[in-house]
Amino acid sequence: MTTPASVTLALGPDCFLRNGARHRILSGALHYFRVPASAWEDRLLKYRACGLNTIETYVAWNAHEPQPGRFDFTGMLDLARFVRLAGSLGLDVILRPGPYICAEWDLGGFPAWLLTDPTMKLRTTHAGYLEAVARYLDRVIDEVRPLLAHNGGPIVAVQIENEYGSYGNSRPYLEWIETALIERGVKELLFTSDGPEDSMLQGGTLPNIFKTVNFGSRANQAFAKLTEYQPAGPLMCMEFWCGWFDHWGKAHHTRTAEDAAATLDEILSAGGSVNFYMFHGGTNFGFMAGANQDERYFPTVTSYDYDAPLDERGEPTAKYHAFRKILAKHGARIELVPPTAPAHAYGNVALTETAPLFTHAATLPAVRSHDPIGQEALGQNHGFTLYRTHVSGPRPAARLHIEEVRDRAHVYQDGVFVGVLDRDQPHPGISIAIPSQGSPIDILVENLGRVNYGAIHDRKGITGGVRLQWQWLTDWEIYPLDLTQLPDALPWSPANKNAIGSCTPTFHRGTLQINTSAPSDTWLHIAGGHGVAWINGFCLGRYWSIGPQLSLYVPVSVLRSGSNELVLLETEPNEIPTATSEEKSRIKPFV
Ligand code: GLA
Repeated sequence: MTTPASVTLALGPDCFLRNGARHRILSGALHYFRVPASAWEDRLLKYRACGLNTIETYVAWNAHEPQPGRFDFTGMLDLARFVRLAGSLGLDVILRPGPYICAEWDLGGFPAWLLTDPTMKLRTTHAGYLEAVARYLDRVIDEVRPLLAHNGGPIVAVQIENEYGSYGNSRPYLEWIETALIERGVKELLFTSDGPEDSMLQGGTLPNIFKTVNFGSRANQAFAKLTEYQPAGPLMCMEFWCGWFDHWGKAHHTRTAEDAAATLDEILSAGGSVNFYMFHGGTNFGFMAGANQDERYFPTVTSYDYDAPLDERGEPTAKYHAFRKILAKHGARIELVPPTAPAHAYGNVALTETAPLFTHAATLPAVRSHDPIGQEALGQNHGFTLYRTHVSGPRPAARLHIEEVRDRAHVYQDGVFVGVLDRDQPHPGISIAIPSQGSPIDILVENLGRVNYGAIHDRKGITGGVRLQWQWLTDWEIYPLDLTQLPDALPWSPANKNAIGSCTPTFHRGTLQINTSAPSDTWLHIAGGHGVAWINGFCLGRYWSIGPQLSLYVPVSVLRSGSNELVLLETEPNEIPTATSEEKSRIKPFV
């Protein structure tokens, strides 16, 4: 038996050396956990056709270890399969295992259960944190060890942490991650990546570790800053932001192909290597979209289209073709672009049955507690939590306050909707008068995604308490509704066509009928308020009429010929959602 020839990637004085020869890395980010596994090959071939020679991916720790010690590397999470596939297509792989990845992904890739420790300090040498990181790295490196270049695999470089200089300046912590990788057998090129700013390059780099920078424009300026910290060696942009992501309620981001191509030209003309972030973004399926917190909290949309060269369903855009030209001009080996199967419109989905969320919750065992408990302490990673208490009466009107609400609470008195409290939006509280027999108060809190950058210790649910004026309310029944898996037995009944929508959150069910033997990708335009969609039990993610995203990507891999079950959970009072399968995605125009 012959052992596969191993690839070596090393640093030359002004370029990379691949197997000893001068080499420019032309790489594109592709997050396997955001793209159905059956589409990986199509995307990889399109990367290669554009002239790329390398694939870069993060590893999303929280997707792989949803509960402590329970790992999943199957299906869309089969990292080893993804890396092998890239290698079999002649592509090198850059691995960025974090443990922190940012990436507009829930809690920057950290499992939410890390936050059950009230003293947790993520991205530090906190003992409990490092213990969990060690166990994660054991498992991930076991998974990819045979795929490291020195073992004959395609992984040629591995990143230490991620833009650590944007967060902290602990040299011992960064060194710990470096040592952890080396101790587990990583012999490949190690590197850090940071923004091209002094504070970031000072906090995020290590003296003997290769440094790279991340930017979207002004390449020469960024490389000049990098050179101050690393006078010799190849120039590499580890994240060339050729597009950007969107938040709910804000304008959709676009960047013209010409503008992005001009920056690419600048990078390549400077002799630089590049990793396009993103080359194809994919989708934040399920509840995995993250959020940002600056002047206030902004949750990230379900789509991770990113205005990237390949759109959310892998179709080449004008940017793809513009990049391909520039790459070819700089000597990249481009190929014929593989065709993309068209998307298809299957029309309206009649939603014929409904099931109230609260009726479902009543079938679940309640957690009883003196005070409200946050989601992490409830063992809940995602979704909704229903908090119920009973207030004695009579009482005149008083204001109900939640401290803190993470992220959005719908409040009901006697089963009737009385108002919404949003995280960190100034609110005078909700006025509630209690009748003589007292009132049940229900608070449904939705987790809209954990902050993935900056203030990342983002615990969810009700993190403190609830008070009526200044009286703290106690004796709660709590129902964790982590809807990552759609519950099997929902209390369905035929939808009443004449009814106005329910005032409490309601599941709506219907059939997407596909009358051809070979289904196609489609876009589901949902008009309604706000909620979550599942097709054939697969969670497509959140929808929200505030936009900018107005349709959800439905990949062919989750569809079948014949009947497809669509379920929507509509959370807004009196909204009756409608769903239409269309051949194009819709974006809300902002003025
Ligand atoms: C940084 C992070 C990435 C991503 C981009 C923005 O560069 O390293 O993970 O969050 O910002 O898309």
